[in-house]
Amino acid sequence: MEGPSLPRLLVLTSLLSCTTNQASLTVSPNSSQFFRWKSVSLSCEEDDSSAGWTLRRNTTRETRTQCGAGWGRSAGSSCNISYLDPVDSGVYWCESREGATSNTIKITVTGGPVILQSPVLPVMEGHDVTLHCKTKTPPSNLPAGFYKDGSLIRTEPTGHMTIHHVNKSDEGLYKCDISGRGESPS
Ligand SMILES: *[C@@H]1O[C@H](CO)[C@@H](O)[C@H](O)[C@H]1NC(C)=O
Ligand SMILES: *[C@@H]1O[C@H](CO)[C@@H](O)[C@H](O)[C@H]1NC(C)=O
Ligand SMILES: *[C@@H]1O[C@H](CO)[C@@H](O)[C@H](O)[C@H]1NC(C)=O
Ligand SMILES: *[C@@H]1O[C@H](CO)[C@@H](O)[C@H](O)[C@H]1NC(C)=O
Repeated sequence: MEGPSLPRLLVLTSLLSCTTNQASLTVSPNSSQFFRWKSVSLSCEEDDSSAGWTLRRNTTRETRTQCGAGWGRSAGSSCNISYLDPVDSGVYWCESREGATSNTIKITVTGGPVILQSPVLPVMEGHDVTLHCKTKTPPSNLPAGFYKDGSLIRTEPTGHMTIHHVNKSDEGLYKCDISGRGESPS
């Protein structure tokens, strides 16, 4: 039995070393909506920095443009945008020299007065998720209405809503509004 198991172990080892060539994109602050003029830092957390991971994005104006080429300031496998603008809204990901890709993160930048601060997706089933409805100018904990797919689901006195034990039925397009201030993007 010892003999035949050896080749299998070798195959498994090479599969493992193959799958370690991965990266995961994180965004700080941890949010998918931002106000114009705010800054954001995007990082490729990689297992193998020699794979040459770079940040790329698709926006309505650009396709697969790399950090540093007209947007962002690059440092190794991180990228900072100092002053966000609505045209920075788009999908961001890390890509290795060989073309391997990370998870993608969708970022929305608004020139409006309200954002819905939600964790960067995806959210694990069964976990709690808190959504914050924030205004650009203080006070930030104003009463807010929360909408899912266009329908009001809850009004919260302090502007944040927690969904307990999220499941598939919670999937949808969320937005919020603050009376007298405005509405967030979805
Ligand atoms: C970026 O845009 C290109 C061209 O439209 C498309 O092929 C690619 O799938 C997009 N990438 C992401 C992550 O959306
Ligand atoms: C990006 O921003 C972070 C936090 O503000 C800072 O620590 C880091 O040095 C910046 N990196 C670059 C490339 O500007
Ligand atoms: C961002 O928030 C999500 C949900 O709360 C969490 O799962 C994830 O670990 C956070 N990411 C970072 C980099 O803090
Ligand atoms: C998901 O959660 C909702 C509300 O808490 C509940 O009514 C529904 O039965 C749950 N669905 C599943 C598939 O667990």
